Amino acid sequence: MISLFLAALLAPQATLQEDPVEPYVQRDANAGAKPFAGHAMLDAFHGRAGIDRVVDDLVARNVADPRISDIFKAQDLVRLRRTLKEQFCYILGGGCAYTGRDMASSHKDLGLQVADFNALVDNLQKAMNAEKVSYWAQNRLLAKLAPMKRTTVVR
Ligand code: HEM
Repeated sequence: MISLFLAALLAPQATLQEDPVEPYVQRDANAGAKPFAGHAMLDAFHGRAGIDRVVDDLVARNVADPRISDIFKAQDLVRLRRTLKEQFCYILGGGCAYTGRDMASSHKDLGLQVADFNALVDNLQKAMNAEKVSYWAQNRLLAKLAPMKRTTVVR
């Protein structure tokens, strides 16, 4: 009886689990960019908590954005939020390890176009504005991410 009660209590957590993915080698290089040196970028994003807020806001904006929302339907958003937080934290010099897949493998089946990339960048700028990240730091991060257009977009 007690175990049934416990199972009922724990059941909602099942929705927080991630879907399994094909095996791959985990390494920071999969993040697709080298981290910034020093603390300035981490400070500009208000530390790990600020990065987490920016990523949560970015994912929420993408899911609600009619330009690109279809691309995010039926995707594992729990995993996406976790790996994006790790990736941003790693790149911004927050000392995180990136455990996700490389950019080419993660996006190869999505058929992304330049317009999709631009919409995501637009949403990232809105998320950074909401976090009051300085334009200096926003532009430095965007410059790091810009070359990923080549690895994520197919045409
Ligand atoms: C700077 C550009 C981008 C970065 C840094 C980035 C980052 C990431 C990361 C870290 C993952 C998770 C990898 C993993 O699961 O191991 C991912 C997956 C994904 N990304 Fe991106 N991404 C970018 C561009 C885009 C664009 C333009 C779109 C669509 C508009 C997009 C949609 C998705 C979707 C739907 C997934 C989940 C794919 C799956 O689970 O199979 N991404 N991205």
